Amino acid sequence: MSNYDPNHAVLIRGTEDIYWVGFSDPKAGFSNNPYLVIDGDEAILIDPGSRAEEHYNTVRRKVEEVIDPRKIKYMIVHHQDPDLCASLPLFEEIVAPDIKIIAQIRTSLFVPYYGTKSEVIAVDDGDTLELSSGRKFIFITTPYVHFAGSMVTYDTKTKTLFSSDIFAAFSFNWTLYADENEYYIEAFKAFTEPYIGCKEPLLSALEKASKVPIERICPQHGSVIDKDIEKYILAAKNLDVGAWL
Ligand SMILES: [Fe+2]
Ligand SMILES: [Fe+2]
Repeated sequence: MSNYDPNHAVLIRGTEDIYWVGFSDPKAGFSNNPYLVIDGDEAILIDPGSRAEEHYNTVRRKVEEVIDPRKIKYMIVHHQDPDLCASLPLFEEIVAPDIKIIAQIRTSLFVPYYGTKSEVIAVDDGDTLELSSGRKFIFITTPYVHFAGSMVTYDTKTKTLFSSDIFAAFSFNWTLYADENEYYIEAFKAFTEPYIGCKEPLLSALEKASKVPIERICPQHGSVIDKDIEKYILAAKNLDVGAWL
């Protein structure tokens, strides 16, 4: 039995400061999961999402439920897909005026195409972001999963991997946590097998991510995985990707 209300921002279980501020779109069988990390007077908005009015308004409302958006000092963009970053120019209007957008080098070229005005910090594999509290986030590049400039972010404090489209899922019966959905692996296959083209980059990404201890995986679509993580990693290794070839 879930004890969260997806109509509002939800504090991710096992954490004190990571909020899901996304939405599910039952008609499309697709959820979009921006996450907000609050650390003292600083906050990070991860993959802020679409600029479609209904989507943006939902994410913005949920952000404003838990924080003054002007405390958001960074927005991390894991790759340049519109579902995760087309809203950047809209958020620029309400977040800290000196907001920094963080993206992998190759993605950083595309971010301004959305009409952003802020500084884009281009990062590469192993680069870190350190907040004023000393909390560190590590950027791990995952080339070709599913863009050349894709990356994921690891929060060293909570051992959370923000995995972008890796471990993402399509599901008409969306739940915030993967263990609430007995068909999550099927939902995960439905997204990943067509959207990731080749096995080699996927195995490389999984190998790199497995070098850090992971307590939870927060993907950009689908559900948070915080139980039986090994089961999902094994399922990912066995995916039959490139399904549309
Ligand atoms: Fe994507
Ligand atoms: Fe996506």
